[in-house]
Amino acid sequence: MSSGMEAAPIAGALGAELHGVDLAGGLSDAAVADIRRALLDHLVVFFRDQALTPETQIALARRFGAIAIHPIARGRDDHPEIVEVVREPGEMLNWGSKWHADTTGIESPPMGSILYARAVPPFAGDTCWANLCLAHDTLSDGMKAMLGGMHAVHSTGAPGRYVDFYKGMRAFDAGESEAVHPVVRSHPETGRPILFVNRSFTRRFDGMTEEESRPLLDFLFGHSERPEFTCRFRWRPGSVAFWDNRCTIHDAIADYWPARNGGAADKRRVMHRVMIEGDRPV
Ligand SMILES: [Fe+2]
Repeated sequence: MSSGMEAAPIAGALGAELHGVDLAGGLSDAAVADIRRALLDHLVVFFRDQALTPETQIALARRFGAIAIHPIARGRDDHPEIVEVVREPGEMLNWGSKWHADTTGIESPPMGSILYARAVPPFAGDTCWANLCLAHDTLSDGMKAMLGGMHAVHSTGAPGRYVDFYKGMRAFDAGESEAVHPVVRSHPETGRPILFVNRSFTRRFDGMTEEESRPLLDFLFGHSERPEFTCRFRWRPGSVAFWDNRCTIHDAIADYWPARNGGAADKRRVMHRVMIEGDRPV
């Protein structure tokens, strides 16, 4: 790449580590262009051994667009743009477990998120991403034709779901919000079709009941989460993931089984997340 960065894919379906860049150092225009290109090619890109402060993480995100504030999860008091994703020692869940794209229950969901690992256990708590372009392209022609005319209702869910099960998370006093999106959206930069549904936030097809929608949604969720559409990233302190939230889903795996690995279960996990504003899906 023109900035000297190198991309090393980590799986067949999506995901690449980008080497040779210091994200905290202020990116050149060539480096920003290379990361944008890599994001379009690989859908999620990873960086190792970075040293970001809240200020430099926000500055990094701003090179790619305006910062999006989470509609429900409350950010840090000193930097509201940053949501601190905390798993306290002994907690069995990660915030962000269960497959989803971020905040699809609003009219214009974020185009991407940048997640920085400040403290992570030596093992356990990997994150998986899945490629929703592949999920679309591998459907039958009949299914594609049917879904092409359909819309689905996405909901953020109640604020309680963001905090009730996590000691370290805080929420705004916000209501649940809903948005209707095409089931197949097109990528605003590449034009590729995307199967735009996810298990956490897609409730039903527009004009149908939840009960009527459930069988087909369950099929589409299971299809989009197939292992051959995914990559899996093992965090280390200083790792960064930057994903295209328009064409991927992700799942923060909560595998802190204390009977098997007490050492990992006893460690605090702290991630800093910033989201970048996106377009209304069409
Ligand atoms: Fe997420």
